[in-house]
Amino acid sequence: MCGIVGYVGNSEVVKALIKGLEALEYRGYDSAGIAVHTGKEILVEKKAGRLSNLKEALRRREIVGRCGIGHTRWATHGAATDENAHPFLSVHRRFAVVHNGIITNYLPLKRELAARGISLRSDTDSEIIAHLIDLFYDGDVLAAIASVVRRLEGSFALAILAASEPNALYGVRKESPLLVGRGRGECFLCSDVSGFSENCTEVAFPNDEVIVRLTERGAKAYDLDGKSLPLAFARTECHRSMEGSEECCMLSEIHEVPASVEKTLRSYPEEVVARLLREEHDEIAILGCGSAYHAGLAFKATMRELAGVRVTDYVASEFLTERYVGGEHPLFIVVSQSGETADTLRAVKRAKEHGATILAVTNVATSSLVRLADETVLTGCGTERAVAATKSYSAQVAALLRICLQYADIWGKIEKTELARYLAELSALPHKAATVLEGERTLADACRRLANASALYCLGKGADYAAAKEGSLKIKEVSYLFSEAYPSGELKHGTLALMEAGVYALFVATDPRLTEKTASSIAEVACRGASTFAIASEGSAERLGADEVYPIPDTIPAFSPVLSTVAMQLIAYYVGIYRDCDVDRPRNLAKSVTVE
Ligand code: G6P
Repeated sequence: MCGIVGYVGNSEVVKALIKGLEALEYRGYDSAGIAVHTGKEILVEKKAGRLSNLKEALRRREIVGRCGIGHTRWATHGAATDENAHPFLSVHRRFAVVHNGIITNYLPLKRELAARGISLRSDTDSEIIAHLIDLFYDGDVLAAIASVVRRLEGSFALAILAASEPNALYGVRKESPLLVGRGRGECFLCSDVSGFSENCTEVAFPNDEVIVRLTERGAKAYDLDGKSLPLAFARTECHRSMEGSEECCMLSEIHEVPASVEKTLRSYPEEVVARLLREEHDEIAILGCGSAYHAGLAFKATMRELAGVRVTDYVASEFLTERYVGGEHPLFIVVSQSGETADTLRAVKRAKEHGATILAVTNVATSSLVRLADETVLTGCGTERAVAATKSYSAQVAALLRICLQYADIWGKIEKTELARYLAELSALPHKAATVLEGERTLADACRRLANASALYCLGKGADYAAAKEGSLKIKEVSYLFSEAYPSGELKHGTLALMEAGVYALFVATDPRLTEKTASSIAEVACRGASTFAIASEGSAERLGADEVYPIPDTIPAFSPVLSTVAMQLIAYYVGIYRDCDVDRPRNLAKSVTVE
């Protein structure tokens, strides 16, 4: 959610910034902008809309320099306009600032500025930062930044240019991510490691409220009193896998599900996880946001069905505000593709305050979540570029299923022969997911009809309901078709009122033990005029009586979300395409949500 880049060094700065922003555009694409120190002054170019608009503007305007900052925005305060785009120049043009996060006390600070005759040109919470630094500046940039940091409440990652220092840039963070990169004769700032160029050979992760000053010779860190601090760099291989590519990512990433699941299972760190699972925990909890939370729901269903263990599920944002009534030594399994979601990270800190041990399931080894967690299971997806999670969700579920089986084994919840059968079935999932993908054309055809639905309801029971929730989220986020998920048995308690011609009910029905119940629900929906579509295991497809059925390979019911969601990911993709949506960059969303 908002991406920040900074560059100082021997290369042409505009090119370096744009390449970084291309890699970070998945964090927000409401606007993009850069500020460059030309040696004489700070110049700013910024444009609402996709990064391509900024690039177009830069083709008409030459800006040359060796030091600059850039930003790609996901709007929180203020619409997606040129005026609200970052960077912001301060009142005397002495500072330019880009910001990721939310300044929660911006209204009193705005009033303070107004009382000093400084009115804002934007509706953002970010612009005040530039003016405040200018206001506090008396010849010492570091001291001015420190004074402002002391005044700011909320979360922020900032990159700052000072007109008085043509060959330096500053960065500081609190709760939002900001990394420092170092190469030969150049230094970088970036919201995450994916935005660093391959010339960046070492990366450092500054702590909260540490100010970094970057020049082409290196980076120095200071506390808010100006005292020098150590900044630990680690060698890192950086390569921007997202650089400048315009091709559709979501579909190719759905096709990468089998490989992602396979790699996740193959690289599963058995010993490391065993150490945590063997500890006595009085609660097992799963926590995440969005698709990561839904992966957790699949885990919850599996733990109940296969291990007979109750798991508490927490949406991270809810966990932050509700009273904690869990265990004294809980194990929190925290799921996050990016490992940077603000709510998730805050929830982890809160869980730790309650004595929780943290097992992270994430796709990014360098993420903040990994640094907070006791141990980590990495999903093997490679970079996921489309905003909608697809292969990462599937890989998360695979990792969680593996954790479930290991837990059940350690605590004697399943027989060894059963465990062997489950493990064999787990290894078969990549192949079975590939089989689901083989029917893409059939699903695409059905989506021509689904795309015209007035509303879509995704329905299921148990693990199928967990999968239905993820499918429904995918469909609404990339196609903007109204979609909601319900346990199918709940239909008769309200939602049946909405079943009529034009509405589609999409049933996930993979559990053969529940086929008859699902068939009844399908009949109840159909007789009210709604169309019915079922994603069903081969074994139950015939008996459901839906208008259309898409069969997927049989598996252990608790494992089925790995397969059924692949079909739903394809449905979301094609419904989005037929409804003319930008499926890779859906409106109002960002891939990594780094604000609360
Ligand atoms: C955003 C993304 C979702 C993702 C969620 C959690 O909403 O658009 O696809 O599931 O954040 O992200 P995380 O990186 O924590 O998995």
